Amino acid sequence: MEMKNNHSFLVLFLCFSLGTNLSIGEDTISMNESVSSGQTIISSSGTFELGFFTPGNSFKYYLGIWYKNISSQTVVWVANRETPVSDAAHLTIIQGNLVLLDKFQSLVWSTNISRSVPPKNLVIAVLCDDGNLILSDLSSNSSIPLLLWQSFDYPTHAFLPGGKVGYDKRTQRKQVLISWKDLNDPSPGLFSMELDPRRAQLVIKWNRTTQYWASSSWNGRTFSSVPGMRLNYIFNYSYIDNENESYFTYSLYNSEIPSKFIMDVSGQIKQLLWSTSLDDWYPFWAQPTEQCDVYANCGAFGVCNNVNSSCNCLSGFKARSDAEWNSNNYSSGCVRVRDQEVQCNGITEDKDSFWMNSIVSLPASQDTNITVAEASQCRSACFNNCSCTAYTYDVSGACSFWTGDLFNLQQLSKTETEKTIFVKSGSPEDQTKAKKSMKLVVLLSSTTAFIVLFIGSFSYIYYRRRRRRMTKGTGTQISHLDKIGGGEIIDVPYFCLETILVATDNFSNANKLGQGGFGPVYKGIFPGGKEIAVKRLSSHSGQGIDEFKNEVTLIAKLQHRNLVRLLGYCINGKEQILLYEYMPNKSLDTFIFDGELCKLLDWKKRYDIILGIGRGLAYLHHDSRLRIIHRDLKTSNILLDEDMNPKIADFGLARIVEGRRTEAKTEKIVGTYGYMSPEYASDGLFSLKSDVFSFGVVILEMISGRKNTGFYQSEEALNLLGYAWRMWIEERAMQLTEKSLLESCNRSEVMKCINVALLCVQEDSNDRPKMSDVIVMLVGEGTSLQRPNRPAFVIRTHASSRPSSPSKVSNNQVTITEEGGR
Ligand SMILES: *[C@@H]1O[C@H](CO)[C@@H](O)[C@H](O)[C@H]1NC(C)=O
Ligand SMILES: *[C@@H]1O[C@H](CO)[C@@H](O)[C@H](O)[C@H]1NC(C)=O
Ligand SMILES: *[C@@H]1O[C@H](CO)[C@@H](O)[C@H](O)[C@H]1NC(C)=O
Ligand SMILES: *[C@@H]1O[C@H](CO)[C@@H](O)[C@H](O)[C@H]1NC(C)=O
Ligand SMILES: *[C@@H]1O[C@H](CO)[C@@H](O)[C@H](O)[C@H]1NC(C)=O
Ligand SMILES: *[C@@H]1O[C@H](CO)[C@@H](O)[C@H](O)[C@H]1NC(C)=O
Ligand SMILES: *[C@@H]1O[C@H](CO)[C@@H](O)[C@H](O)[C@H]1NC(C)=O
Ligand SMILES: *[C@@H]1O[C@H](CO)[C@@H](O)[C@H](O)[C@H]1NC(C)=O
Ligand SMILES: *[C@@H]1O[C@H](CO)[C@@H](O)[C@H](O)[C@H]1NC(C)=O
Ligand SMILES: *[C@@H]1O[C@H](CO)[C@@H](O)[C@H](O)[C@H]1NC(C)=O
Ligand SMILES: *[C@@H]1O[C@H](CO)[C@@H](O)[C@H](O)[C@H]1NC(C)=O
Repeated sequence: MEMKNNHSFLVLFLCFSLGTNLSIGEDTISMNESVSSGQTIISSSGTFELGFFTPGNSFKYYLGIWYKNISSQTVVWVANRETPVSDAAHLTIIQGNLVLLDKFQSLVWSTNISRSVPPKNLVIAVLCDDGNLILSDLSSNSSIPLLLWQSFDYPTHAFLPGGKVGYDKRTQRKQVLISWKDLNDPSPGLFSMELDPRRAQLVIKWNRTTQYWASSSWNGRTFSSVPGMRLNYIFNYSYIDNENESYFTYSLYNSEIPSKFIMDVSGQIKQLLWSTSLDDWYPFWAQPTEQCDVYANCGAFGVCNNVNSSCNCLSGFKARSDAEWNSNNYSSGCVRVRDQEVQCNGITEDKDSFWMNSIVSLPASQDTNITVAEASQCRSACFNNCSCTAYTYDVSGACSFWTGDLFNLQQLSKTETEKTIFVKSGSPEDQTKAKKSMKLVVLLSSTTAFIVLFIGSFSYIYYRRRRRRMTKGTGTQISHLDKIGGGEIIDVPYFCLETILVATDNFSNANKLGQGGFGPVYKGIFPGGKEIAVKRLSSHSGQGIDEFKNEVTLIAKLQHRNLVRLLGYCINGKEQILLYEYMPNKSLDTFIFDGELCKLLDWKKRYDIILGIGRGLAYLHHDSRLRIIHRDLKTSNILLDEDMNPKIADFGLARIVEGRRTEAKTEKIVGTYGYMSPEYASDGLFSLKSDVFSFGVVILEMISGRKNTGFYQSEEALNLLGYAWRMWIEERAMQLTEKSLLESCNRSEVMKCINVALLCVQEDSNDRPKMSDVIVMLVGEGTSLQRPNRPAFVIRTHASSRPSSPSKVSNNQVTITEEGGR
């Protein structure tokens, strides 16, 4: 009994745990106990669990620690990552060491502490509430139990708040985070992160040796090259350097929020937070920010595309494994189309000896630099050296060679300075083989095309007949073999105009759903009764064929539950048509600005909608493979599905911001008055922060039930933003809330939303948070929010519903959408 109390006290002491209902046993392994497959121990307040797990579909068992209460299993530490066991294994304490034994009682893993005096029977292992597994000797005379070993000193791929990544100056031992091999295999992968104590910086390496990313040095407060660390309202980062050790660590101001810092299988380090409302890990920041900057991201001879992080092969090369590439696993890289091995004896140089590749950034390390008089000498020098793989030459006479496989090529956009690299091709004998296979491909694809065409025409005729019988003919004669504008094949179903005319009953007014930014939207009923929304872009819309194609290719790539899905498109003469999934509940503005319908959206629903829009926008800005600025976010562009889930529509204005740029300047201003940020409206400067501004306006409209544009407080001609700001500084912000909401609303959530909205509409775009931060603010419990600065007022002198003449932007072409239902 006395023993037990003693234990309780010590365990409490060990973990620095403040848990009240501490029960010994559940979180502890003592000398004569063991944990075998199927059994677990749980930290005192139930945050972490230790036991055996089998990742993915494998039958291999690993001993690990994971977050207990998180729906997607999140392993944060693995003991035997290199030596999995079959099921009958157990963890126990033998001779003062924590050991993992397999079914033959042989040692699989051990804490491996060697001590001169064997400990008494008073060694215990405790899983603490911060996720640390500690092994302690309670037999020492002093009042402080002796710490023998702790898992925080041996992190695997992750480190938790309170853990550390550092360097012990006494033992010269360092903590290294090593990625998993892949998502289902915890064995050490190629990417690792460690601390470089001399420069006080974090570095990421490939295959333990090749460094491809380094932070700036610790400046006393942060690694300033990691912008995500500068936002310090959630994480407290520290760097400790003393005579014994140097280490980097962090904690959370609100320790209840699950979080982890990981070396991800993608080759990036990520700081993640668990979001209960997303039911997923939310990446607070990641480095390197671009997937293309991860070493060997596209494998040998692969070229990484900075815009969408996809990989291609250099010309003359093909994927080593199509199956792997198709599942976005590019690590195996590319091989020569002609011949795997370059033969270099007994072959004469000809025009096919090299493949030319333009507009790529060059692989980092040249092996040889020589100076030559002209390009042909550089070429010959490479050709005549068997180990040379590629060369570049520039007019100054600098000739560089590479040997071995080429890694880290990046496709540059056309505007950047063109670089050309010449890569040795295979032996020419195989050229004929390659040509033959080309022919076969052509033959095959034309056969497929024919079959598709045949089936297509057949079903079309069949459908047309049926439809005729039903409608007695519509009289329009349009070929269904419409050509796509530029002859480019886009991977989105193409619908012929005829089908659309039939489905929408010749764009009848009865089928009109509304007037969107660039033209009317109709409801169409397609074969099988499928309802589809048809957006008919008006020819006066200013949306040219290029913009149209841009929209089609863009939207087709974006998939998120808060974005409207594109189902197909059509081009025929002047007609440009997009087919979207049909949203039975129309758009958000039909509800919130309607005296009766607004009652259908209680606070909880509105809060969910705000979050949904935020997530959709954050996806466009940060998470999709493209980086997209919507540029026309407004309540009429938010559609609602049958469960009132919001989906963002109308990406016609979206532009890819190429590469790393997050800001761009446009000559043609598009957008909707009232939602446009001041820098966009006046200077045509759009950025991710212009969307953040629009999002802030949408939140305020949803809370107040009033339009930013059509809003006038009788005494002053303030718009909604001005009014909201006044209420905020006068500490009357709750008065903004629409009356019908007051009953159902949660005061603190409303205040949080108003605070966030005002942060989003601040005048200086640099002050506005990123969408990813906005989400964290909205879902984060108990994070204290910054106080907003004065918002940008889109001050208007007259109460007319049209914007005054766009004299401010007279140099630019202006297209401003009027407010209106759709
Ligand atoms: C463990 O078992 C041995 C023998 O079975 C016993 O002598 C010892 O007291 C036990 N230790 C504890 C801590 O229960
Ligand atoms: C675990 O999660 C559920 C629901 O997400 C919550 O109700 C419960 O309080 C959580 N338990 C702990 C110990 O955090
Ligand atoms: C245990 O440590 C010794 C040195 O202290 C080392 O030689 C041995 O390889 C280690 N064993 C394991 C399993 O790590
Ligand atoms: C513990 O203290 C006793 C006397 O108080 C001493 O004899 C013994 O050697 C000490 N043991 C250790 C491990 O220090
Ligand atoms: C990693 O480096 C080792 C030698 O340190 C080498 O044997 C191995 O092939 C390398 N792995 C890859 C994928 O290149
Ligand atoms: C941040 O962490 C450091 C070191 O862990 C600690 O000394 C400091 O008090 C923390 N700051 C806050 C505001 O919690
Ligand atoms: C460094 O280690 C020594 C010996 O273990 C200890 O006395 C000292 O307090 C340590 N210094 C710091 C700053 O922790
Ligand atoms: C990425 O973009 C390039 C051109 O910018 C395009 O050719 C390629 O198909 C795109 N890949 C994916 C997967 O979207
Ligand atoms: C990717 O392919 C390599 C083999 O080229 C394989 O070892 C690795 O497990 C694959 N990764 C994933 C995530 O499937
Ligand atoms: C060749 O020149 C490039 C840049 O001019 C340099 O980065 C590289 O290290 C040089 N290589 C050798 C082997 O000198
Ligand atoms: C070929 O190039 C390699 C690396 O640049 C160099 O070490 C080697 O000496 C060259 N061989 C010949 C035959 O020039």
